[in-house]
Amino acid sequence: MEDFKSICVTEGIKKVDVIKNPTSFPLIGKGAQGAVFKISSDKCVKICAKPEFAAKEGNVLKIAQESPAIPRLYEVGHNYIIMEYLEGPTLFQYLESGGSYPKN
Ligand SMILES: Nc1ncnc2c1ncn2[C@@H]1O[C@H](COP(=O)(O)OP(=O)(O)OP(=O)(O)O)[C@@H](O)[C@H]1O
Ligand SMILES: [Mg+2]
Repeated sequence: MEDFKSICVTEGIKKVDVIKNPTSFPLIGKGAQGAVFKISSDKCVKICAKPEFAAKEGNVLKIAQESPAIPRLYEVGHNYIIMEYLEGPTLFQYLESGGSYPKN
């Protein structure tokens, strides 16, 4: 099995840079702290530029697991988070196109 741990991501200007990806896992997208790759039909991994980014986002996801709007959290590692792959628009795209999100 291919190892996502061989993927290398560093901090960039507005978004991270993917320095190397010897795997065939496709890049879903990049953010300021990490890059997300699809690793199976229902899972993705976020590789973070710094271990503290993975730890912090991992903690947030852990706390938010009771919410149905948050991806299931599978594993938090040194610089990565394995979570549920969610199909659909981003929250930003959804709200921009007139979608609503309940306050609670
Ligand atoms: N669980 C997921 N399932 C499917 N796509 C995801 C998942 N998590 C993140 N993505 C997608 O991967 C891309 C990068 O996500 P990431 O969390 O790294 O950055 P962001 O949240 O978009 O931006 P930033 O972290 O800079 O605020 C985005 O397009 C996002 O929609
Ligand atoms: Mg994000």
